[in-house]
Amino acid sequence: MSAVARFPDRYPIDDLELVRMRRRHLRKVLSIEASVYPRPWSASLFLSELAQRSSRSYLVGRHQGITIAYAGMMFTGREAHVTNIAVDPDFHGRKVGTRLLLTMVYEALARGCERISLEVRVTNGAAMSMYGKFGFITTGIRKGYYIETNEDAYIMIVEDALSSAYRGRMQSIRDELDDLSDDGDDSDDSIE
Ligand SMILES: CC(C)(COP(=O)(O)OP(=O)(O)OC[C@H]1O[C@@H](n2cnc3c(N)ncnc32)[C@H](O)[C@@H]1OP(=O)(O)O)[C@@H](O)C(=O)NCCC(=O)NCCS
Repeated sequence: MSAVARFPDRYPIDDLELVRMRRRHLRKVLSIEASVYPRPWSASLFLSELAQRSSRSYLVGRHQGITIAYAGMMFTGREAHVTNIAVDPDFHGRKVGTRLLLTMVYEALARGCERISLEVRVTNGAAMSMYGKFGFITTGIRKGYYIETNEDAYIMIVEDALSSAYRGRMQSIRDELDDLSDDGDDSDDSIE
């Protein structure tokens, strides 16, 4: 089912501006963080992540000048790990998460990562569905990973991210987003 069908009153946001996360974005980032997670990251955790410039990448998604989403990755050797991704609940189901994750994945490919991993709450069906579209496969479980709720996490992984099959998969997602754009233009998800 498409996001448009699931959220019939919502249309994909096709003018999302993706820029590097900066300290000035944190107020809104922290407010989104608090609205979607039972144990939100603190400002100091974000700042410590942002300080590790060579091994981290954090983006925010902005719509009409307002931060509505963010995502981050950590790079170790040839592996990329999705550390966080969240969209303001007012904008869920409008392909913002898809646009952010696609851009992060392209960055991982550009850095030569052949493996992309993440953890997800076992009850988080929406996120798992999105990750499934990006080719993530559940490979294991971390018992009690989320301490605050004593919930388990699934480990999800993309192997062979550098294969032509995987690039083709990413291109299909990109094509789908382009098709959803009103004018069907080819504007890409550029980073400031
Ligand atoms: C997970 C999250 C980032 C998805 O962002 P989003 O912008 O709402 O998602 P999109 O509109 O791009 O949808 C992408 C896919 O996610 C899945 N999805 C999104 N919302 C869903 C819902 N309510 N129910 C089931 N699947 C859903 C679908 O597979 C969808 O693809 P489709 O539109 O082709 O059906 C967002 O729900 C969120 O911020 N959740 C809270 C934070 C969180 O859980 N982060 C992940 C931590 S591991």
